[in-house]
Amino acid sequence: MDFCNKVVVITGASGGIGADAALTFAKHSAKLVLAARNESKLIDIASKCEKQKQIKPLIIRADVSKGDDLRNIIAETIKTFGRIDVLVNNAGQGIKGNVLDGIELYDTAMNVNVRSAYLLTSLAAPYLAESKGNVVNVSSVASLRPIKDISFTAYCVSKAALDQLTKCAALDLSRKGIRVNSVNPGCTRSNFLESAGLDAKLVYGKRSEALPLGKVVESDEVADLIVYLASDRARSITGSVYVIDNGEMLV
Ligand SMILES: NC(=O)c1ccc[n+]([C@@H]2O[C@H](COP(=O)([O-])OP(=O)(O)OC[C@H]3O[C@@H](n4cnc5c(N)ncnc54)[C@H](OP(=O)(O)O)[C@@H]3O)[C@@H](O)[C@H]2O)c1
Repeated sequence: MDFCNKVVVITGASGGIGADAALTFAKHSAKLVLAARNESKLIDIASKCEKQKQIKPLIIRADVSKGDDLRNIIAETIKTFGRIDVLVNNAGQGIKGNVLDGIELYDTAMNVNVRSAYLLTSLAAPYLAESKGNVVNVSSVASLRPIKDISFTAYCVSKAALDQLTKCAALDLSRKGIRVNSVNPGCTRSNFLESAGLDAKLVYGKRSEALPLGKVVESDEVADLIVYLASDRARSITGSVYVIDNGEMLV
């Protein structure tokens, strides 16, 4: 896989799956645009990426729930690199709560996990059409069925909507030669659970016992799948939802 002279925009690149995706794309010589809210973490990831092939990533502080920040990601990317080949809509937030806990949870989940991907895809589309590029959305197995042991309703709804965005946008953009796919991880080691106010160690322990392959997913495994789908090796794949979950959907 070769991303030489290709420009890859990754949201939520300050940690977890997004940071590992950045490092993996860097190993394949991509020019990177790393966006998230935490600038010091972005600087740290960017310097690790730069060590791979001596290509300096562009860092953009952005809250993906804000339209102006998303417009700035595209504007700064074009100003610096002049093109976009791959968009990875990875930024996401786990939100504890259910339908009895008020509508704010729903609004936050939809803004951060879906609206951002919808708007960024539409803003990037003209440039992706020029490069015959592609989009990879980071969804979840939570899109496919409710999470039973954690109250995560708005999150599950948002990821189901994201999967439908993947399929609809794949059809919309196919005429422009743009592919759109999704990776749907099960329980993955990252900051995700702690950021949602959960005890990660406890959840990993319980999940490992319950899952067919007896372990949680590592974030670099999800990164490998993202990079594969973004590469020319996946040139016939569009509108697909790729589960990586240690067999979680089987039990
Ligand atoms: N870990 C899991 O078990 C799991 C399972 C299925 C799906 N996923 C999905 O995988 C994706 C990545 O999550 P992760 O596991 O790597 O978790 P993580 O370690 O918590 O990383 C989340 C990333 O999203 C960014 N982010 C969150 N809210 C943001 C906002 N409003 N604006 C900009 N960036 C924002 C965070 O950066 P800042 O805080 O710096 O903004 C961070 O870089 C998410 O979409 C998540 O839903 C995770």
